[in-house]
Amino acid sequence: MTHQNGRERIPLGPGDLRVSPLGIGTWAWGDRLFWGYGRGYTDADLEAAFQTSLAAGINFFDTAEIYGRGRSERLLGQFLRAADRPVVVATKFFPYPWRWRKGSLQRALGGSLNRLGLAQVDLYQIHWPYPPVPIETWMAGLADAVEAGLVRAVGVSNYDLEQTRRAHAALAERGVPLASNQVQYSLLHREPEQDGLLETCRQLGVTLIAYSPLGMGLLTGKYTPENPPPGLRGRRFNRKLLGQIQPLIALLREIGEVHGGKSPAQVALNWVICKGAVPIPGAKNARQAQENAGALGWHLADEEMAALDEASEEVQSGLVF
Ligand SMILES: NC(=O)c1ccc[n+]([C@@H]2O[C@H](COP(=O)([O-])OP(=O)(O)OC[C@H]3O[C@@H](n4cnc5c(N)ncnc54)[C@H](OP(=O)(O)O)[C@@H]3O)[C@@H](O)[C@H]2O)c1
Repeated sequence: MTHQNGRERIPLGPGDLRVSPLGIGTWAWGDRLFWGYGRGYTDADLEAAFQTSLAAGINFFDTAEIYGRGRSERLLGQFLRAADRPVVVATKFFPYPWRWRKGSLQRALGGSLNRLGLAQVDLYQIHWPYPPVPIETWMAGLADAVEAGLVRAVGVSNYDLEQTRRAHAALAERGVPLASNQVQYSLLHREPEQDGLLETCRQLGVTLIAYSPLGMGLLTGKYTPENPPPGLRGRRFNRKLLGQIQPLIALLREIGEVHGGKSPAQVALNWVICKGAVPIPGAKNARQAQENAGALGWHLADEEMAALDEASEEVQSGLVF
């Protein structure tokens, strides 16, 4: 395994995009309903998270037109204008039921570029593979966007194995590589390993971007049955679940100690990186951004990975979400 540090760059897909082995997710940047934006963290906190990440060598930020109904893209755009180094920006097209034709993708992309204040987005992704619009329609829209110079690389999100193959093949006909598939992947959600998606992506040269790599905060270890997460997460992650994950959290802590006091979050993110995916943890403030960047620059040993795999399997077999 190669040694990693905060300045390392890895390819994202087969094209020329180079990203830090860990990015930052920005769903919480402007989202009141699920994440509680405006209560507990402010725009100043988010700007500090952005600047701290850049200073730590992270150059990859993921947003979407639906996050905070455009607010996430606007905030990211605002922060980008003050950035003192190049940033790789990924955003997403949402296939709303009233979007039927590939032309709607170009219009949505125009909106994203406006909010971000950019002439070109580095990675443009289809957020979900919702039917009935065929995968090929959106792939044609993505290829048009590349040809128009509005997008450097294209990706998909929440596509299963067969949908990924179809997207890859449709784009290949236009000579455009599929750079990435962004799916949920963490020690609490190992479906991409179990159903072969991770391996298929590797074979196709498609980077697997891991969303919710901290299990929406659960793998930080700060939430317990006595201290559940606030808001909607508190209802989704009930006391039983919070109790079930504690043995895994204890192991994350134990392994972190061996690596000079790494936190459960840092170990959980390093596990994703060692699996060959690019985690994009959300960060609401400078402290979280700094801690998450500490997942870079070191590597879990093979026997530690095996122990985490085993502990996570035990937890998953009993998980009640
Ligand atoms: N493509 C898709 O469909 C999709 C779906 C979901 C997410 N995503 C992307 O993936 C990104 C990350 O996923 P996510 O936000 O769902 O979950 P996550 O990264 O697993 O968890 C993020 C949350 O954990 C807490 N946290 C993060 N770092 C922490 C630290 N060091 N110490 C303590 N708490 C910390 C924060 O919330 P609290 O402080 O409130 O606990 C933060 O908002 C999103 O921002 C988005 O870009 C994509």
